[in-house]
Amino acid sequence: MPSAKRHPRVDQLISALGYGSRRDVDIWINKSDRIQAKGVDKLRSDMRLDPKLLSFDGEPLDHPEGLLVVMNKPLGRVCSHDPREGPSVYELLEPRWNLRSPTVESIGRLDKDTSGLLLLTDRHDLIHRLTSPKNHVPKVYEATLQASVTQKMIDILASGTLLIHGETKPCLPAKLESLGDKKARITLSEGRYHQVRRMLGAVGAPVFKLHRSQFGPLTLDALPEGELRSIPFPENWVTPEAEI
Ligand code: URA
Repeated sequence: MPSAKRHPRVDQLISALGYGSRRDVDIWINKSDRIQAKGVDKLRSDMRLDPKLLSFDGEPLDHPEGLLVVMNKPLGRVCSHDPREGPSVYELLEPRWNLRSPTVESIGRLDKDTSGLLLLTDRHDLIHRLTSPKNHVPKVYEATLQASVTQKMIDILASGTLLIHGETKPCLPAKLESLGDKKARITLSEGRYHQVRRMLGAVGAPVFKLHRSQFGPLTLDALPEGELRSIPFPENWVTPEAEI
């Protein structure tokens, strides 16, 4: 019998993946054959099984070990579950993913007016790991500015002394590069509220347009706007000694 203590109970697992309540799962096991397990004749809700053995309507379970997706976030969507804040990035997910427990959350946030690479996961430990400035996961943004980049701006951002309005700690060093014609690339490892806009505004280059092109080693590649790509969990993005 393919059973082990460390595996989750079938009803808890399938319900936590957003398929339905534990009562629904019970019905699907006992009154229909929607849920099946390879090698198990008489499936019961309280069995503990390797999730890989289970199927729902003949399909393997949807990301039973956890979910990590890259989204190319369009402008105009908020990273919030509160409908009063506007159309949400969560509406772009598979509806079932919004019923999972633990919940699917964005890893950090992008502003409503920022487009580009957004990660979402139900692994809340990963959210902490990838957003903590201690772990130096670089995030790269492309910006269109109201002024051209100067060497002075580059030096101030690199210095680690820039104190932005309302903050008590200076921003960690950030790398600013000119892409010509009031365009710039900025790389930073923090994720404070509106940080890129506030840093660039503070050095005299307010931001018109902002797009995140990279998060750690990940890029969007050819992912179309508004679309998602499921990816494996990272092994070694966290590089405490990394310099940006
Ligand atoms: N910095 C900003 O100002 N906005 C974002 O969306 C991300 C970083």
